[in-house]
Amino acid sequence: MCGIAGVISLGDIAERLVQCIHNLEYRGYDSCGVAMVNGSPHIHVRKNIGAVAEVSEKERFSSLAGHTGIAHTRWATHGKVTRENAHPHSSCAADFSVTHNGIISNHERLRARLTRDGHKFLSETDTEVIVHLVEDYFMKSMSVEKAFVAAIRELEGTYAVAMISSHEPDRIFCVRKESPLIIGLGTDANYVASDFNAFVDHTKKAVFIEDGEYAVVAHDSHSIKSIATGEAVCREVLELPWDSEMAQKGGFPHYMLKEIYEQPTVVNSALDIDEAKIENLARLTVEKNLVLTGVGTTFYITQFAQYMFSIYGGATPLALSSDEFRHLARMNKDSLVLAVSQSGETYDTLTALRVAKNQRASTAAIVNVMGSSMARTVDSLILQGSGPEICVLSTKAALSQMIILTRVALEAGVLRGTITRKEANARIKDLRAIPDAIERTLNEKSGFIHTIAKAQSHINHWLFLGRERYYPVARESALKMKEVSYVHAEGMPSGFLKHGTIALIDEKMNSVVFMPPKEQKELYDLSMSSVEEIRARGGYILGIMLEEKGKPPGVFSDVITLPKAPSFVAPYLQMVAAQLLSYFTAVTLKRNIDRPRSLAKSVTVA
Ligand code: AGP
Repeated sequence: MCGIAGVISLGDIAERLVQCIHNLEYRGYDSCGVAMVNGSPHIHVRKNIGAVAEVSEKERFSSLAGHTGIAHTRWATHGKVTRENAHPHSSCAADFSVTHNGIISNHERLRARLTRDGHKFLSETDTEVIVHLVEDYFMKSMSVEKAFVAAIRELEGTYAVAMISSHEPDRIFCVRKESPLIIGLGTDANYVASDFNAFVDHTKKAVFIEDGEYAVVAHDSHSIKSIATGEAVCREVLELPWDSEMAQKGGFPHYMLKEIYEQPTVVNSALDIDEAKIENLARLTVEKNLVLTGVGTTFYITQFAQYMFSIYGGATPLALSSDEFRHLARMNKDSLVLAVSQSGETYDTLTALRVAKNQRASTAAIVNVMGSSMARTVDSLILQGSGPEICVLSTKAALSQMIILTRVALEAGVLRGTITRKEANARIKDLRAIPDAIERTLNEKSGFIHTIAKAQSHINHWLFLGRERYYPVARESALKMKEVSYVHAEGMPSGFLKHGTIALIDEKMNSVVFMPPKEQKELYDLSMSSVEEIRARGGYILGIMLEEKGKPPGVFSDVITLPKAPSFVAPYLQMVAAQLLSYFTAVTLKRNIDRPRSLAKSVTVA
């Protein structure tokens, strides 16, 4: 949801700055721009609509001289996708420039006041008020830092802001409130950015700024201060766990495919997470009333976990989509809200955690990004260790979350006495079969899945159906299809189909059914009834199932048979197969795989 970056050094930094926003492009990609101070009283700004590579070439970003600069890649919230609305935005005298991620909720009031005072606005954005406000305060104090702080104190809403000024050409001023911002400490330059993918090519040393703090960054130093008191704050320098190679495509045509192929490793990392951490979280889930929350993919993962807790963990927790959490949740000190998020920055999920805290609930999270807002907000944390997920679509992080939550649910079952330690160990052993089964799926089934995707790419409507734990897998798989291929897809319980949606079944509506293994007899039979109902109405049905004795039933139009594996792991493997189906459909339709239209990797606005 917009990526902001800043670089400060003794030498020219334009190329590095462009690289930083290129690395952040998955956060937003409708327009981009850079601003640089280079000795002139006027800051140089170049910006336009389009992706970083294209705009950078057209506007010759790299030819901008200067050693202090900021840059931005936008996901529009206030104001259309136009050159004028692209960041950075500058003051009337062009002596200040800002980039911003978030929403300034009192921007209309501020804009009216500043306009009355003679400021000229060039864009429709909420962001532009920040820079005029700083300019206004600067005229009174003639101190950039004082003006910056005074302006921030007037802002309402959420923001991560990086600002440069020709009055202090050797400084970048930055601040955050509920939007991510991090300082990178390099050997010949320092950085500010929305996340560390921006500068991971140059340094792994980082410092996190907290809400209520601002920072002044020079090429060889930085200081963090409290906005309220101006007192200096000391923050630990952290060593980041990811390196730049992990964030490269490594020969794959798209990050999505690379990340799908990384899943065997990611599953092993999830299985290797310290037992004590899993036990600790499981104990909390048993002691408290558990509410699971996430949004988009992570909501479906929490729904999957809901089934796991219900079937193995001995109690059915609530699973709430975090965007609706505040409207539904009634927490108290006996509640535990467990949030799931790849980025750890999603506004809706962060808000759910804040609501939970206000209602005195305990909080926990499973997140992939170290140092993210959620990681720093919750009482208990499990870091996934899935490595950087660059594609806007979540694949490997989601599978890892399923594994971790399954482990927690199994442990909760042992603690509650609903399953024995032996049974839990047997299921964990099953999970250990997943990496190998995924390898085989990728090696042996990709070609077939590609063929199906191509053959069905003329279809504009898909239903993804599953029962019990296969139902959230169906919903997540439908979301994948929608996001990456722009093809309409709905995920629903297969039993629900006959209550209305079945009216849509015809030769133009395809169905995918996530079949349980035969040993789950009741579930298998119920799922087959839905298959028969679709068949009777002439609809195409793609079955996704594990290889079992005997031929797959002839009622399916096509079947993706997954390698023989313990029946417990069927849904995890089916999810991987469905990821491939969406991927190949999008490839056939020539979609923008890693950065689908209108999306952003981390949605940090309401
Ligand atoms: C995943 O493919 C989606 N792009 C999206 O639904 C995502 O899962 C959701 O925005 C939550 O993100 P998070 O995991 O970073 O919190």
